[in-house]
Amino acid sequence: MTENSGLAEYEWAADFVRERAERSGLHLSDSRPIGLVLGSGLNPLAEAIEGAVAVPYEEIPHFPTSTAPGHEGRLIAGQLAGQTVVAMQGRVHFYEGYSAEEITFPIRVMQRLGVGRLILTNAAGGINPGFHAGDLMLIVDHLNFVGMAGHNPLIGPNMSAFGTRFPSMTHAYPRSLRNAALKSAQELGITLRQGVYAFLAGPNFETPAEVRYLRLVGADAVGMSTVPEALVAVHAGIEVLGISTITNVAIDHLDADKETSEEEVMETGRIVVPRLTALLTAVLGRL
Ligand code: HPA
Repeated sequence: MTENSGLAEYEWAADFVRERAERSGLHLSDSRPIGLVLGSGLNPLAEAIEGAVAVPYEEIPHFPTSTAPGHEGRLIAGQLAGQTVVAMQGRVHFYEGYSAEEITFPIRVMQRLGVGRLILTNAAGGINPGFHAGDLMLIVDHLNFVGMAGHNPLIGPNMSAFGTRFPSMTHAYPRSLRNAALKSAQELGITLRQGVYAFLAGPNFETPAEVRYLRLVGADAVGMSTVPEALVAVHAGIEVLGISTITNVAIDHLDADKETSEEEVMETGRIVVPRLTALLTAVLGRL
């Protein structure tokens, strides 16, 4: 492997999407599109996109296909709140068996399509004791446990066509975008919590001891996505805004009556969609 080997695959995928959009009269190259990744249970948000061109992941060369529940697997380009957006309706996860590099393939394709700002959404468990199911949390920073275990999408020869060998993560979630989200939330009367997102591989939910550990080390929410995408985006010069929907409160004691379930995650996701749609629409209007 040499530097930038594999670049052609990103270019092919981007060309394919660009041409599909072009056929529907959407000129992605001229429009500085904003990227959007919709997490578990948040798929309905894509329905708000107007004049949409939807391309199933299976049709895009080299694109990974989504196997997770609640993840449709379509790339949707169109207009939302006066902005051109390229949205992933469903993402792929590390727990599906893809490598960290494979799950972030779409982000580099977005960069090739001219995306300079990316909004990442996810479903997460609340670790901060002040959080409730249904809360929205602005991601201010992250803990990359999977990366610490050696699975970082930037491992391997550096792709200098995208960015530098040692990208800084000090400003991974830049203040300008966070302020746009906070102002929008304030105007809409939506409570937007702020916190640190911890990325674990999953697919199991955490044990009570793991939940207490995560709280101890400074996590406010925990989930199974987003961080690899943020890393690859920052490396490629894309600004990232991250919003978690707290779909459940992570359980921190052994004698709890209930346990975390996929049903709860999906159901709370559905309940939150209108609020998150309102917030994201307002944020897009500000960018
Ligand atoms: N843990 C990990 N990932 C999650 C959770 C959780 O409690 N809820 C939604 N995604």
